[in-house]
Amino acid sequence: MILVTGATGNAGGAVVRELAERGEPVRALSRRPGSVAWPSTVEPVAGDLDRPETILPLLAGVDGVFLMSGYADMPGLLAEIRRAGVARVALLSSAAVPSGDMSNAVAAYHIRSEEAVRSSGVAWTFLRPSMFMTNALQWTSQLAAGDVVRAAFPGVAAAVIDPADIAAVAATVLLDGGYDGEALRLTGPQALLPADRVRVLGEVLGRNLRFEGIPDADAVAEMGASMPQKYVDAFVKFYVDGDLDESPVLPTVREVTRREPRTFTQWAAEHAEAFRRAS
Ligand SMILES: NC(=O)c1ccc[n+]([C@@H]2O[C@H](COP(=O)([O-])OP(=O)(O)OC[C@H]3O[C@@H](n4cnc5c(N)ncnc54)[C@H](OP(=O)(O)O)[C@@H]3O)[C@@H](O)[C@H]2O)c1
Repeated sequence: MILVTGATGNAGGAVVRELAERGEPVRALSRRPGSVAWPSTVEPVAGDLDRPETILPLLAGVDGVFLMSGYADMPGLLAEIRRAGVARVALLSSAAVPSGDMSNAVAAYHIRSEEAVRSSGVAWTFLRPSMFMTNALQWTSQLAAGDVVRAAFPGVAAAVIDPADIAAVAATVLLDGGYDGEALRLTGPQALLPADRVRVLGEVLGRNLRFEGIPDADAVAEMGASMPQKYVDAFVKFYVDGDLDESPVLPTVREVTRREPRTFTQWAAEHAEAFRRAS
């Protein structure tokens, strides 16, 4: 039995689907487990990662945990996981960790989470993905309103990754072992600018979309309206100051899964309906 946290989200949801497709028993954890309809082999459960005591009862019979980073008491959470006798944890971390930059709030919560896992005594693998392809779903409301897509940091290319590939790696790591004690840097097959991703979306949707880069000062103001300042500062460090380079294309997904990582065109075609529904 594998416990998947963040099960109603992009990454966790993909892990649940991957394990279910492999015929593995899965417990799918989030705070609102009823919000997704799963196959009958999936057991949806409610738990709050900020309250480790709510997780312990969900760990009975669990061999592996797909764990999200950044919750209030990661050492407490790991203590429950250890106490329950779980064999292995795959932590969803970040490509920002190797910077070691504790003054960057996003890097810092991933660094602290890795540290809690590393010192827990439970076998672990860290998954450090590039930017997710699913971030493009943020553009659905713009696509519903017209053919112009505005996006921040227009000059920043990223080897965006399909969460389905993170999931395929996570499932292999948790089920087959063989990657204990390794930090796996995961990327998609191509470095793409935001304008490239909009072009691909336009081709897939059969629409003549136009890309507009948001000037950095405006992007900072817009982000400040929707997230705490420490995270705005983190993204400025990553994408304006250039502290995070997510453009390298690495062979890790292919090496672990023995198949090619999925392209943004494949991802967009699979999610075309979500973009059309919003229009
Ligand atoms: N997006 C990127 O480009 C990117 C790149 C690298 C790394 N990452 C990392 O990947 C993580 C996951 O991204 P995602 O796109 O899958 O996130 P997401 O779609 O926002 O999903 C978050 C999931 O966590 C659950 N959750 C949130 N707070 C919880 C709590 N206190 N207790 C239990 N469950 C909780 C949510 O469900 P409920 O709300 O129903 O509980 C949901 O299932 C990010 O947080 C980040 O650390 C992201």
